[in-house]
Amino acid sequence: MKKPKFIAAHASNPKGLLGRLILAGMVRQTSAENDHAIEILAPEASWTVIDIGTGHGHALSRLAKVVTSGKLVGIDQSETALQAARRRNAALIENGRLELHCCACDDIPVPSGTVDGAITLHTVYFLPRLDSAFAEFARILKPRGSIVVGFRPPGPQTSPDLFPDDVYRFRSAEEIMACALQYGLHPSEQQTLKVAGKQMTFLKLEKRHVS
Ligand SMILES: C[S@@+](CC[C@H](N)C(=O)[O-])C[C@H]1O[C@@H](n2cnc3c(N)ncnc32)[C@H](O)[C@@H]1O
Repeated sequence: MKKPKFIAAHASNPKGLLGRLILAGMVRQTSAENDHAIEILAPEASWTVIDIGTGHGHALSRLAKVVTSGKLVGIDQSETALQAARRRNAALIENGRLELHCCACDDIPVPSGTVDGAITLHTVYFLPRLDSAFAEFARILKPRGSIVVGFRPPGPQTSPDLFPDDVYRFRSAEEIMACALQYGLHPSEQQTLKVAGKQMTFLKLEKRHVS
């Protein structure tokens, strides 16, 4: 059945009560692929790691199990999402291990070259332009830092019969890699596989010099 447009709009930018309900359901729906992205990133205990478009913030709780002495950052454009992320991770915030920012992913309030690792899951569909976001990802990463981008690729599971195409834009790995390369983000790993029955692509991009 096609996802109704009003539900899709909350996946893109959750707001209010319905946004909160959708975020609560999303935790279960996306936890396996977030775990897989964290495995691919393989963060070290002392790293600074950011979850871009964190939504409910569940991935930050999982990252905290590995990043035990470093720093975690979560960003999202939705204040409703950040409220959920704040509630879920209250202890981490209180202990100074996590900071959350309400901002767009192409305007992240983090100094340049300070992030060791990043993940961004199920966010690229909603970006009208990839360029400014990937330029920002490259800016905040340290040299040799990595970002894992996890997304559903174009295919039968993501057809316009199932997802409103004025909200979701399913992009190929090639389109994303071509954009990333312009900003010195080079693919170091690519996987397309089913995670919990969902066809997913994971791209690990490493910051090197712009070629
Ligand atoms: C489908 S949810 C995914 C949440 C989480 N990453 C996960 O895998 O469950 C997409 C999230 O990305 C956020 N988002 C979408 N576009 C964004 C942008 N341009 N800047 C910051 N956040 C954005 C939305 O507000 C939403 O919380």
